[in-house]
Amino acid sequence: MGKASKDKRDIYYRKAKEQGWRARSAFKLLQIDEEFNIFQGVKHVVDLCAAPGSWSQVLSRKLYMPSKLSPDSGDGVVPLIVAIDLQPMAPIDGVIQVQGDITNAQTAEVVIKHFDGCKADLVVCDGAPDVTGLHDMDEFVQSQLILAALTIVTHVLRVGGKFIAKIFRGKDTSLLYCQLKLFFPIVTFAKPKSSRNSSIEAFAVCENYSPPEGFNEKDLYRLLEKVGSPSGVSDSDCSSGWLEGANKVYIPFLACGDLSGYDSDRSYPLPCSAEGPSYQSLDPVQPPIAPPYKTALELKKNLP
Ligand SMILES: C[S@@+](CC[C@H](N)C(=O)[O-])C[C@H]1O[C@@H](n2cnc3c(N)ncnc32)[C@H](O)[C@@H]1O
Repeated sequence: MGKASKDKRDIYYRKAKEQGWRARSAFKLLQIDEEFNIFQGVKHVVDLCAAPGSWSQVLSRKLYMPSKLSPDSGDGVVPLIVAIDLQPMAPIDGVIQVQGDITNAQTAEVVIKHFDGCKADLVVCDGAPDVTGLHDMDEFVQSQLILAALTIVTHVLRVGGKFIAKIFRGKDTSLLYCQLKLFFPIVTFAKPKSSRNSSIEAFAVCENYSPPEGFNEKDLYRLLEKVGSPSGVSDSDCSSGWLEGANKVYIPFLACGDLSGYDSDRSYPLPCSAEGPSYQSLDPVQPPIAPPYKTALELKKNLP
């Protein structure tokens, strides 16, 4: 498929290049913000699974750049943005980068160290495993990433803070919803307009972090395992019978972003100049600096 063809079929891909975003995912975070105002009062953020960095760019432009341009306008608190990914990322103004696996305790410790003495107001996680196409498997691996993210959340997020995480909708969506509800009184599953309808992805928008009374971070997994068991934890949404039958639990699900705006499942004609169709496709803003396929290409080059 040619670059122009992709520009035509994916308006958000084209707009991302025009607006200087490293990935079309930037629009997902921006559209979630339009609906939920997630950056209000936010100074300290963790961006989990951040490469190639479009969400970090949004955080930098929304939080770091304004404070850099007019340092006296705020409350004097310097924004702190910590981004983590398995892959290395090209630098972004005001973003501290950590290369590591979020399911690894050592990575979590490095992140926590950056927040030494202070807490995060917001944790975002756009993590996605390499999708296999086997939905149950993909959903399971995705849920493990969210639980790893939740572990970091319980260590760094301040009470009242927010957590945004990519989820894959599937048979365990109700379980995940009820697990998140243990820590956040308000949990909404949101589908930004820039996320394709054909994709099973959505985003859990979790507000007002309130861990259970007496909660100890070490007990996280034990507590999560209890969700759905007959003697387990329950609240008004997640009663003990929610696992039986279809859709026992009501999950708030919301489409977000300007609904009259661009539709990610539609093709849009390319802009043409008055003299004719002289459309020039832009190059990606930041090609990956260490793509996984690079090693494969190098190995191939050395074949006899
Ligand atoms: C959809 S991309 C994130 C896009 C990013 N939010 C942006 O706007 O550029 C998913 C990322 O998750 C990362 N990832 C997957 N599993 C991870 C793990 N266990 N630890 C850290 N990063 C992980 C991948 O390396 C990949 O860069």
